Amino acid sequence: ALPRDLTGLRVVISAGGTREPLDPVRYLTNRSSGKQGYALARVAAQRGAQVTLVSTVTGGPLSDPAGVEVVPASTAEQLRAAVLTAAEQADVVVMAAAVADFRPAEFVDHKIKKTEGSEPQPLELRRNPDILVELVKGRRPGQLVVGFAAETGDPGGDVLDHARAKLARKGCDLLVVNAVGDGKAFEVEHNQGWLLTADGAEAPIPQGSKARFASTVWDAILRLSSSDRL
Ligand code: PMT
Repeated sequence: ALPRDLTGLRVVISAGGTREPLDPVRYLTNRSSGKQGYALARVAAQRGAQVTLVSTVTGGPLSDPAGVEVVPASTAEQLRAAVLTAAEQADVVVMAAAVADFRPAEFVDHKIKKTEGSEPQPLELRRNPDILVELVKGRRPGQLVVGFAAETGDPGGDVLDHARAKLARKGCDLLVVNAVGDGKAFEVEHNQGWLLTADGAEAPIPQGSKARFASTVWDAILRLSSSDRL
């Protein structure tokens, strides 16, 4: 059995890729399955935390973790509203969701038809709000805000350089870094990466199940919440 060392902690976790609709039948999205976010929620609940999971993949293959409040969201705007509301009561917010950076500039309310002989039309995009940056700006006293980063590239090389820049840009307390591409992180059952804290501490997370990975992240959050150090 896991230690009940997160008892009393109220946590919000987001999971899955957002879907940005173009018309009633089409959307833009990414490869996030929600597995890592669900593992974070399940492990936190098992360790005694009070957990709200904002998920883009409800009704899919992942079952609701026992004892967790699950709030459905699909688009970045919906995820933003649900996460910001839940964050008002939270000690820790973990943004494991892969939020689309852009959405189609307009939602067309009918299926877009291809007209015979016509050229394909360019797709106009708008930037989505950065929820993590908003969470950091609106942080309650003592609240910890944790970001995830999915980076392609050479592990240990430019992956970490990009991640350090992202941590500085987003201003979160802890950034959990995943190397992605080549069948890594997205959709699979295992994960590996690094923990970077705002004060410059860095630690690798060895390859393991997403539950194991989640436990390592909660260990780091627990240490940060009690001592402000990794
Ligand atoms: O779901 P799985 O298949 O299990 O895969 C897990 C995962 C690889 C998706 C997950 O572990 C992960 O890395 N999630 C974050 C992926 C991501 O969107 O990274 P990013 O570098 O684009 O964004 C950085 C951070 O900003 C993230 O915390 C993201 O939630 C947040 N963000 C990004 C854009 C935006 N508009 N708003 C945000 O809040």
